Amino acid sequence: MKTYRKNANDRSNAYKVVIPAAGLGTRFLPATKAIPKELLPIVDTPALQYIVEEAVDAGLGEVLVIVGRGKEAIIDHFDRSPELEAVLEAKGDAGRLEAVLRSAELADVHYIRQGAPRGLGHAVACARPYVGGETFAVMLGDDLIDARDPLLDPMLEVQQKLGGCVVALMEVPQDQVSMYGCAAIEPAGDIAVANPEATSGVVRITDLVEKPAAQDAPSNLAIIGRYVLSPEIFDALDRTPPGRGDEVQLTDAMKLLAAEGHPVHGVVFTGRRYDTGDRGDYLRAVVRLAAERPDLGPSFVEWLEEFLADFKQGAVIKS
Ligand code: G1P
Repeated sequence: MKTYRKNANDRSNAYKVVIPAAGLGTRFLPATKAIPKELLPIVDTPALQYIVEEAVDAGLGEVLVIVGRGKEAIIDHFDRSPELEAVLEAKGDAGRLEAVLRSAELADVHYIRQGAPRGLGHAVACARPYVGGETFAVMLGDDLIDARDPLLDPMLEVQQKLGGCVVALMEVPQDQVSMYGCAAIEPAGDIAVANPEATSGVVRITDLVEKPAAQDAPSNLAIIGRYVLSPEIFDALDRTPPGRGDEVQLTDAMKLLAAEGHPVHGVVFTGRRYDTGDRGDYLRAVVRLAAERPDLGPSFVEWLEEFLADFKQGAVIKS
């Protein structure tokens, strides 16, 4: 059996990871009627596996996935599959056998059920018994961060230096801020972080608004789905009434902490990120990652070039 070796920079004793995956995935219906949106493939690997791999790459190997009704396939994906393994072994298909074993051995994956979809804040609150009184990371499955631009590393480093909560921020066009949590910021001083190529610095967050109208947004810095949260967040969530969409918002609980003087900082990410929760961005992520794959890329790119040339001329494309 192949054992996946964790990053030398192993922090698994210090930080647990929480991945909310109880959402209904309505943007991808009908595909997500019976299949969890978190398992939609990016080339040949489920979106959620990329997220767990990102955690493991940052040295975090203890993961809690918050699931809901109809998400049992997620549990199967990160478990052993004796029948499939036996078939692949009998065929001598070592490559696929390794791929099948890999998802089961990648990390220690645990599950908890969120009984009713009452918002991201409520999902995170469900993790309290698992996380206890420790600082932990939250990773949202719709945001795929390119493995070449590590984001958790600088965030964990900032949390260790400054304490409190740290969120990932990214500049977005003004007409897109209404899709995100949005931050009011002030300078945090010169704080050196790991992987400076994919970040443009650290800021102190003074206020947060969940999905503001463009004209009400305090900046064009949007929260993207990576958080490092101190355990005070749980009490803040308890004190947070339902907000936008009548759901308990994680953004509102962090806003409360910032207002009460707790340190809340943002790491501004400038690296490659794909929003796999949006159909257009999902397609772009699949094409991009397929084009960059050494096994599939060269012939795929060749076909893509021909396809585009023909497509633009309105030709009938047959292969
Ligand atoms: C959630 C958060 C939002 C954040 C976004 C990032 O929204 O509530 O603050 O900006 O994730 O992807 P959702 O996309 O789940 O509606």
